[in-house]
Amino acid sequence: MNYQGKTIWITGASSGIGEAFARALYKEGANLILSSRREGALKQVKESLGADKSRVFILPLDLTQTETFPEKTEQALKAFGQIDMLMNNGGVSQRATVAETEMDTYRRLMEINYFGAVGLTKQVLPHMVERQSGHIVVTSSVAGKIGTKQRSGYAASKHAVQGFFNSLRQEMYEHNVAVTLLCPGFIKTNISKNALTGDGAKFGKMGDAHKDAMTADEMVKKVMPDIKKQKEEIYVTGFKEGLAIWVQRISPTLLNKILKNQKVT
Ligand SMILES: NC(=O)c1ccc[n+]([C@@H]2O[C@H](COP(=O)([O-])OP(=O)(O)OC[C@H]3O[C@@H](n4cnc5c(N)ncnc54)[C@H](OP(=O)(O)O)[C@@H]3O)[C@@H](O)[C@H]2O)c1
Repeated sequence: MNYQGKTIWITGASSGIGEAFARALYKEGANLILSSRREGALKQVKESLGADKSRVFILPLDLTQTETFPEKTEQALKAFGQIDMLMNNGGVSQRATVAETEMDTYRRLMEINYFGAVGLTKQVLPHMVERQSGHIVVTSSVAGKIGTKQRSGYAASKHAVQGFFNSLRQEMYEHNVAVTLLCPGFIKTNISKNALTGDGAKFGKMGDAHKDAMTADEMVKKVMPDIKKQKEEIYVTGFKEGLAIWVQRISPTLLNKILKNQKVT
């Protein structure tokens, strides 16, 4: 896949993994539509990308406000005439036990991580089906495969993402629309600082596991060849999370025994 002149809509583009994808795809010659809530941060990303500002369109949106998606999608389509790839990447994590987590916080995690991705995909899909061409990428997580302490709502939302997009893939084969689930382990971004505690307040700290993890730019460099191949599922992890995925495949019982004694940050 050559991204020169292709149009790519990225959510969660104001920070971390989304911002790193924007950097890499701009260099590949793509037209970019950058979305998240903070317009100022998106403008800074646009400024940092390079000289050709005409290839970058800022489209602020809140993933919890699915009712705005039809109009946002119209604006996105108008920007460059079509959408070749949608990267459902915006998301938020969690740092609280089940006992501590309020129902509103569980709902918020689902609204952002699951319904946000579902809602935007449903708007973009008819356009891709009509053209019989397109690629939907969704940033799931190792937490989309494995549940751990203090991540019940986050893991649930990412498991839901896996189920939805695996089903969608089956329906899209005949329409030549590819679906990729991207499953990172720990990546050094603001994800833990922005994670929700039980009452929905921000955790505000960089977790130990993230401090020493690979950067978002390193991650994007590693996964880009597989994204170009439109692989169905991509894992990009450190040693521990990679091992956990492997152990789960061999023996879920063994993995649960190991995880129950793990310190979670
Ligand atoms: N970092 C990791 O270790 C890791 C591992 C596995 C999966 N992931 C996934 O990777 C994705 C990106 O996370 P990241 O690591 O890059 O974290 P990040 O630096 O905190 O970025 C999160 C992005 O999501 C956007 N966002 C949050 N709430 C939103 C909302 N209500 N509406 C619209 N946009 C919203 C944020 O922008 P605004 O604040 O401007 O809205 C920001 O651009 C997430 O889906 C996350 O679950 C991350």
